[in-house]
Amino acid sequence: MCGIIGYTGKSDAKDIMLDALELLEYRGYDSAGIALLSKEGTQICKRAGRVKDLRDLCAQKNLVGSCGIGHTRWATHGGVCDENAHPHRFGKVTLIHNGIIENYRELVERYHLQGKLSSETDSEVVAAVLEHFYTGDPYSAIRRTVLKLKGTFALAILFDDQPEKIYAVRNVSPIVAAVTTDGAMLSSDVAAIVPFTADYFVMPEFHVVCLSKDGAQMFDLAGDHVEIEWLKVDWDVSRSSKGGYPFFMEKEIMEQPKVVGDTVLSRIRNGKPDFSKEGVPDHILADCQRICVIACGTAMHAGLVGKSLIQAMIGIHVDVVMASEFMYNDPVVDSDTLVIAISQSGETIDTLEALKFARKCGSPSISVVNVKGASIARASEYVIYTCAGPEIAVASTKAYTTQLAVLYLLTARMAMARGLWSEEETLGYMSELSRVPEVMEKVLSQKDEIHRLAGTIINARDVFMIGRGLDYSILLEGSLKLKEVSYIHSEAYASGELKHGTIALITEDTPVIAVVTQEKLKSKELSNIREVQSRGARVLLLIKEDEKLEDDKRFANVFRLPVMEDAFMVMPASITLQLIAYFVSLDKGLDVDKPRNLAKVVTVE
Ligand code: G6P
Repeated sequence: MCGIIGYTGKSDAKDIMLDALELLEYRGYDSAGIALLSKEGTQICKRAGRVKDLRDLCAQKNLVGSCGIGHTRWATHGGVCDENAHPHRFGKVTLIHNGIIENYRELVERYHLQGKLSSETDSEVVAAVLEHFYTGDPYSAIRRTVLKLKGTFALAILFDDQPEKIYAVRNVSPIVAAVTTDGAMLSSDVAAIVPFTADYFVMPEFHVVCLSKDGAQMFDLAGDHVEIEWLKVDWDVSRSSKGGYPFFMEKEIMEQPKVVGDTVLSRIRNGKPDFSKEGVPDHILADCQRICVIACGTAMHAGLVGKSLIQAMIGIHVDVVMASEFMYNDPVVDSDTLVIAISQSGETIDTLEALKFARKCGSPSISVVNVKGASIARASEYVIYTCAGPEIAVASTKAYTTQLAVLYLLTARMAMARGLWSEEETLGYMSELSRVPEVMEKVLSQKDEIHRLAGTIINARDVFMIGRGLDYSILLEGSLKLKEVSYIHSEAYASGELKHGTIALITEDTPVIAVVTQEKLKSKELSNIREVQSRGARVLLLIKEDEKLEDDKRFANVFRLPVMEDAFMVMPASITLQLIAYFVSLDKGLDVDKPRNLAKVVTVE
């Protein structure tokens, strides 16, 4: 949540920062601002609105400087207005902040700040406390301030009398930094850095980094110099551009055959699933008595599919817990529980905190993460990276299917480790998994037909999605996608549960999307569909292309999915539902990639 950028070097900082903020906008887009530090002093330009609005404002001002910080905001404390936009300035201190300072009210009292602040934010309070402690030594002021803060923070700080220098410190909220050919940069994620360099480092918590045009230096809070651990980005700049598509969401949907293929194929050895590169030992897959998946949003929906797979194929109990609820339900996890944390960003704070708790309880852990070196990856015992590459659209698509791909692989490895499958069964399953990219291509080639189907729900106020078992899990994600990007209220409902109340909401004005892909559930699902049709509902049915329907005229529309074994039908069905959501949003003229009020990386609880 909130994107931060800092640049110091030989180039014009304003342009670098505005471009970077556009790349970081998916982290929050209520307001944006930059501050430039130069011989003339510190200039701030900020406003509520998008980065393009900030760009217009900056164009009207004569902003100069080769050292600066910039921010794109997702409001937590204080409404969306120009004053609450970052950077915040107090005395000689100017800063940007990502996170939440829980004790800001106490700090206001303790440092007599009442009436002295110009915004309602917790962030400005930090600037004021820094100013209080600042006597010319940035390290000492930062150290003393940080010790007073409760909460999460990624701070990038300018001091008026420290020319060409940016200081940074963090707790939980992420900061990565890099040295470029003409200076140094920091950012909340690598997306903004990758146009300049592939080498970067993740700032450790409670360390102070000082960037200057000569590079980066890092110290711990005791003031001792600390060596930087460098990492390399393994995707190129072109992957964070729209590549000719109108929106990232479409580009990312279209990339799925490739990225799912990359995620799967790199982990097949002799036709079998293989996690030796990740060092995941078989015993943690073989010995656990239960599994607990922790995740949020789309990642949690991937977990639900994983639960169906593992329970069906391995026969052990799997809980899928919303990470934001995990701590409040007296979680029962122990050394017999394998914890799987799933997260695209690897920074979702609820997932991170739940994972840390589980580890304290002695649970072995594996994380499934997309962003290399992210906090969740580092906090877990083992990490399996999805190969989705940068996902920029706020609504997750390719991260979801690559997470599913890892869960399919893990299920197979677990079956092997437990001696449950014969060699033939393993090879058969893996060969079906390897077909996913080609099946996805088939769905994508029917994009125009799916676009037409999206047109049949575009004017709906509510859409219901019904299915059972694995079909229901698919629909939970399909419904979330539709809600997120089209603002149409939609509910995924287990179709057997409909008649326990919700069927009252189904009328002839309620389109229903039904997914029927599981042989063992088919007859029950089809009768549930009849129940809604008897109430006048227009049903769009997603069903395998080889399935014979006796009376397909009763369906308003039928979309035929390429056939896979039942366990894998999630893949073609999900990609279809993603495209439906996308086209509804596109045709409504909405900002598909940046849906109202959402942020891609949720680093506040
Ligand atoms: C936010 C995003 C969702 C995402 C969820 C979990 O709500 O808008 O798209 O699924 O966070 O994010 P993670 O990075 O942990 O997968």
